[in-house]
Amino acid sequence: MATAERNQYDGFATEYASYGDVPDMKLEIDLVQTALGDCTGLTVLDLGGGSGLHARSAAGAGAARVDVVDISAEMLRVGQELEETLGRNDRVRYLQADAARPLAEQINKTEEDFKRQQQYDIVMANWLLDHATSEEDLRGMWANVAAALKPGGKFIGVRVRCIRAPYLQYGKYGVIFSEYEEIPGPGWKYKVSFKLNNTPVSFEATSMESTLNLDHSIPQGLGMGDFSVLPHEESKVVKEDLEYWADHLKNPSFVVVVGTKK
Ligand SMILES: C[S@@+](CC[C@H](N)C(=O)[O-])C[C@H]1O[C@@H](n2cnc3c(N)ncnc32)[C@H](O)[C@@H]1O
Repeated sequence: MATAERNQYDGFATEYASYGDVPDMKLEIDLVQTALGDCTGLTVLDLGGGSGLHARSAAGAGAARVDVVDISAEMLRVGQELEETLGRNDRVRYLQADAARPLAEQINKTEEDFKRQQQYDIVMANWLLDHATSEEDLRGMWANVAAALKPGGKFIGVRVRCIRAPYLQYGKYGVIFSEYEEIPGPGWKYKVSFKLNNTPVSFEATSMESTLNLDHSIPQGLGMGDFSVLPHEESKVVKEDLEYWADHLKNPSFVVVVGTKK
């Protein structure tokens, strides 16, 4: 899976860095910012962080250090360039690795101090679990989350919850899911499409049934717990237009899950 994942975002990394007018992304950003809260002085790891959309929220909320890990060199390059324009390179680092395999051994080759500093106050994995093509991948991703969190540290993860919500077929909230295929895992492969600044973008996602069902037995076995889903109805984006968001509230296509390391 790693080779396909390494390349599939490269072609639209620049577009991905600007979230444009996609309503789903506005809601997602609002929810993740709520989950992050005040990050003053905290260390944050963003697994599958891409071009740093949510890493920038953490840095903006005062994080002392944010490490973005992603498999796509181009997503990382775009994020790093953006960070240079913001003058925050000393606080936000972009590191290439496969988040389904043990991180320290991959990143230590280029970042000597990663191992020393590998315990973080917050670990995010936004849309990462929906790129696990097998239960083994999923276990590898959760193992990295659990290993990187300090005791008492917070996990934040945007996750696909329902791949077949009717509004996903016509893109009511800016995002279309199509080309569903059942895969061993058990899970689903499907195409995710949307427009960023009028540029059509699409990629393949894979969600294991256990992720869609919010089954947390894997991370619970790794010493994590207290999982909960952020209430979408309390987001200011939703409150601004409750009627528009009614279909999403009935059957959310994605959720933001928080948890802790015991
Ligand atoms: C939908 S994008 C989300 C990016 C970012 N988390 C966000 O919310 O804006 C998914 C990201 O996961 C990355 N990814 C997929 N599989 C990965 C893996 N095994 N290890 C690290 N990154 C991975 C992709 O390269 C891509 O940047």
